[in-house]
Amino acid sequence: MAIQGVKGMQDILPPEGRVWRAVEQAAAEIFEAFGYDEIRTPILEHTDLFARSIGGETDIVSKEMYTFEDKGGRSVTMRPEGTAAVVRSFLDHKLYGRQNVHRLFYMGPMFRYERMQKGRLRQFHQIGGELYGLASPLADAEIVALQHAFFKRLGVPGLALEINNLGSVESRGRYAAALQAHLRAHADVLCADCVRRTDTNPLRALDCKVPACQPVLGGAPSIIDFADAESERHFATFRERLDALGIAHEVNAQMVRGLDYYTGVVFEFTSTGLGAKNTLSAGGRYDNLVTELGGPATPAVGFACGVERLLLLLGEMVHDIPPRGTRLFLAVLSPAAEKVAARLSGALREAGIRVEEDLGRAGLKSQMKAANRVGADWVVLLGEDEVARGEAGLKNMTTGEQVAVGLEAEAMLARIRS
Ligand code: HAM
Repeated sequence: MAIQGVKGMQDILPPEGRVWRAVEQAAAEIFEAFGYDEIRTPILEHTDLFARSIGGETDIVSKEMYTFEDKGGRSVTMRPEGTAAVVRSFLDHKLYGRQNVHRLFYMGPMFRYERMQKGRLRQFHQIGGELYGLASPLADAEIVALQHAFFKRLGVPGLALEINNLGSVESRGRYAAALQAHLRAHADVLCADCVRRTDTNPLRALDCKVPACQPVLGGAPSIIDFADAESERHFATFRERLDALGIAHEVNAQMVRGLDYYTGVVFEFTSTGLGAKNTLSAGGRYDNLVTELGGPATPAVGFACGVERLLLLLGEMVHDIPPRGTRLFLAVLSPAAEKVAARLSGALREAGIRVEEDLGRAGLKSQMKAANRVGADWVVLLGEDEVARGEAGLKNMTTGEQVAVGLEAEAMLARIRS
């Protein structure tokens, strides 16, 4: 039996690869326009990194990580997200010593052993941005504006933005205590996981999907009512800035996000085109993570967007992105033309033309069919008689017009570009 791919891990087949490249290119252009530089970190990290940053009680760390021992007996994990890895690299290389503000972006595969559904994979890709060194609410707004600009560039339909304020460490602690009391009072109807989380990390109970728990969770106190004055001011300025940027948003006091490192502002972009549970991109402020991982006090805010979900949404809209530049088919119709063909294909490719040929050297009719199939804009015909005369036929596939040109690439390029 033929070997199949691993469940939850997708192949990206042509012509979709071109769509991916276009999306990544658009992202890189937007990031650069906002002054962000690319960082690439390895797929594997020490398991501790994620346990300490994302939180041991989260779904990601407690049940979804691809963790194994390497041959040296060290516990390593295939990164389930980018934020912790970027902080690790920032500290490893002491980037904080170079300047105060860092704007970083990344793109690449992430791994979570999740239950498969539409838009939920075990290997998926994120495009993410992280901004270090600015405690200002304007930084939070910049991260949101960047995503907004990216989605606008791609024409994402039905976009909606939800935001919330998780408050400071202290106010979050007060909220956790109130939530704990609420959960304890209803322990008899909660699932076993929620009962356990009541003691270990009550906020995580809010992520519970078990239907029986929903009425208790729906009646729980709201984190927004516990925020301290300073984080309330921060949140208000953040909202004012979003208004000034013309970015519509709604407060969702129930949103606490599924990772433990957040403090203050959090947000999620969704689209009516995705299922209710599927977020397109998400993130927030995490001012304590750098110190928790052993670095200097560094305020931080960031986001990550799921690329597969983005492509699901864009669907047909971006399905047939044509290849960039001019496509030319070189029809070699005689062994006498081989030398000329070898020289021409090299020179034309160097000039940025996409050159394809039929290496099986079939007859004229089937080579013209092949030229049509690949969507060639031009065909260069190299027959025995033409080459003997020092000429080639150059056919414009749009107009059907064919002219004789010299055998030099320059002569062809002059025609093509005229
Ligand atoms: P996250 O909410 O876990 O946040 O993931 C961000 C996005 O990744 C999601 O909104 C979704 O589009 C995509 N995603 C997550 N899991 C899957 C999956 N199993 N299949 C397909 N797509 C998925 C983070 O990862 C944080 N690191 C974001 C962040 C950056 N916060 C601050 N900086």
